[in-house]
Amino acid sequence: MNQLTFSNGDTMPAIGLGTWKSAPGEVFQAVLWALQAGYRHLDCAAVYQNEKEVGDALTKAFADGIVRREEIFITSKLWNNAHLEGEVAGGLDRTLADLQLDYVDLYLIHWPVALKSHVLFPKQGDDYLSYEEASLSGTWKGMVNQKISGRARHIGVSNFNIAKLTEILDSSDVRPEMNQIESHPYLRQDELVSFCKERGILLTAYSPLGSADRPKARRREDDPVLLEDQAVAEIARNHGVSPAQVLIAYALHRGMAVIPKSVNQARITQNFAAQEVILDAEELRQLNSLSVQFRFVDGTFFTEVPGSPYAQSDLWEQ
Ligand code: A2P
Repeated sequence: MNQLTFSNGDTMPAIGLGTWKSAPGEVFQAVLWALQAGYRHLDCAAVYQNEKEVGDALTKAFADGIVRREEIFITSKLWNNAHLEGEVAGGLDRTLADLQLDYVDLYLIHWPVALKSHVLFPKQGDDYLSYEEASLSGTWKGMVNQKISGRARHIGVSNFNIAKLTEILDSSDVRPEMNQIESHPYLRQDELVSFCKERGILLTAYSPLGSADRPKARRREDDPVLLEDQAVAEIARNHGVSPAQVLIAYALHRGMAVIPKSVNQARITQNFAAQEVILDAEELRQLNSLSVQFRFVDGTFFTEVPGSPYAQSDLWEQ
């Protein structure tokens, strides 16, 4: 199994099961199918609102002897409404209670955006906390405390651009160990990827298949469909594999962890088998030079709310 290695020697299986958009009623079975197929990495988050059901599946898997806790790598993420330094522990408490675990392997700041504690998704300017009210360095101190306590074995961030990573690196001796970012051939983010690699920050690619099931509010008629890309389809045909498998293999070839989401048993199994797909230099060159470039998860749901103190430049390279 492909692995990524942390600076202390701990390893993380490169392919994980994504659980964003996995509906309650579906994710329990999806987790069990994934464990049976060989997955040993699950990607979770409080805001997915399904961690309790993921936890039920883990509890069953441990009880049935499918897998032991120490054999599986669990990531979760701090939601935006627990960014104050003193609130981070409470955010992790809720996740650990739902997942029915006493530690996560990796805990990430989900977004560099802070909300008031009673707000799940912002609707107006008053729902936010600004950087003056909730500094990222304060949130990071709260994260470091979770690592010191042992309740988060590794800590990192998600959706952080170079400027925001630099702010954390300059504010603390403890560096983020991971940046989880949208990454696929339509959004390669080469500069950010190099920045992270040079500083020993590991990367996880989210929405590796283009998240065609993202919420309707985040889709437009003319958005490109990554799984239908002609170049990806041709490479897939040449290997006798599916376009999804080519896209997962692409992330692995870039040295990233990758978390395709599926709630379908055949696709869960197929996605895990993508680690057998070996792409050659010419195929990688083609995938690295597709003219379509597109961000499927663009953060406008935080930046375009009237009165939001956050701008697109707080999220992405400009
Ligand atoms: P499903 O859950 O029904 O399998 P992403 O990981 O980029 O967010 O993409 C998830 C979307 O891709 C979901 O709609 C998921 O549907 C679909 N999907 C997952 N695996 C495959 C696959 N191997 N082939 C085609 N579609 C897939």
